[in-house]
Amino acid sequence: DKGGHKHFMAKEIAEQPTVLGEAIRHYLTTDGTDVSLPGEELDFTKINRLTMVACGTAYYACLTAKYWFEQLAQMPVEVDVASEFRYREPPVTDGTVALFVSQSGETADTLAALRYCDGKADKILSVVNVAESSIARESDIAFPILAGTEIGVASTKAFTCQLTVLLMLALKAAKQRGTLEDERFADLLKSLNALPGLVNVALDAEPQMAAAARKLAEARDILFLGRGVMFPLALEGALKLKEISYIHAEAYASGELKHGPIALIDKHVPVVVLAPKDALFDKTVSNMQEVMARAGKVLLVSDHAGLDEGAEGTWQTIQMPAVDPVLTPILYAVPAQLLAYHTAIAKGTDVDQPRNLAKSVTVE
Ligand code: F6R
Repeated sequence: DKGGHKHFMAKEIAEQPTVLGEAIRHYLTTDGTDVSLPGEELDFTKINRLTMVACGTAYYACLTAKYWFEQLAQMPVEVDVASEFRYREPPVTDGTVALFVSQSGETADTLAALRYCDGKADKILSVVNVAESSIARESDIAFPILAGTEIGVASTKAFTCQLTVLLMLALKAAKQRGTLEDERFADLLKSLNALPGLVNVALDAEPQMAAAARKLAEARDILFLGRGVMFPLALEGALKLKEISYIHAEAYASGELKHGPIALIDKHVPVVVLAPKDALFDKTVSNMQEVMARAGKVLLVSDHAGLDEGAEGTWQTIQMPAVDPVLTPILYAVPAQLLAYHTAIAKGTDVDQPRNLAKSVTVE
């Protein structure tokens, strides 16, 4: 049942305010002032290294969480794609906790990576959507993301729920490790509680995203740029777009542009810049100007303050509500998803069943 939507993907994108709210309520105390983890209490002060492993979109959720665990909880984090991790035979040293992220909980490479860590890591954790899955069953603690069934092959609500649960784990880690001031911790929980409402506001910008997507649909190649915590989201935006619209898209950390990819820029290449007005905004604006100086067409996704400062000379803009910089990847996932969705619609491709792809990859 698509609930009145044309595609499961559209329905699942629209469900995000609701499912994010449920996930947040599940992991916060009733008064909303602390994170309460289900099941066994996890001692983050004893963790020397967090190794996160996943595939595809779930891998990009891990890459995002690396910024959070490092910046908020001062924890050393390693992130890898499961198909590489499992065959590299990486040493799993004392004090390592391994965390596997998977919507289906059945991805063959991720499951094999988990089994490789079994008996080597201090603990096996997982962040899963399907609670009865193999990955959940074989973990010491499985954290559900509570996204509900995801049918669209391109992952949307599972991604934002993965991010939200990972952020709450990072916040819990920060609290236990004493790396975050009480006031900042309280502030972030407040912002988290307000997030579903802001995701709704982001969804209201769908007409602008659809209009932008109709122009993107004419391109052969599209670049995505992001800096800091927005870099993994740029990777996710490019993946989403290529999966369902079959347009070649690539993502780079903004600062990497001049180390090669800028050679690709000309008037035919749209560049989607995901840049909230955060501490790194000015640096991204200067990368954007380098693109525009070579006739590149910039689609800037930012907030009011960012557009005020950086919109001049851009090709198109999309405005997001302002949000705490820590939470931007969750909010900006909405334009990343809807740009891909409407580009696919404009191209007439099969949004829910893209060619060559399966929802659950149970063979390597
Ligand atoms: C992208 C997508 C895939 C999956 C990947 C991992 O939209 O859906 O990249 O994220 O195959 O799947 P799970 O999360 O089930 O392990």
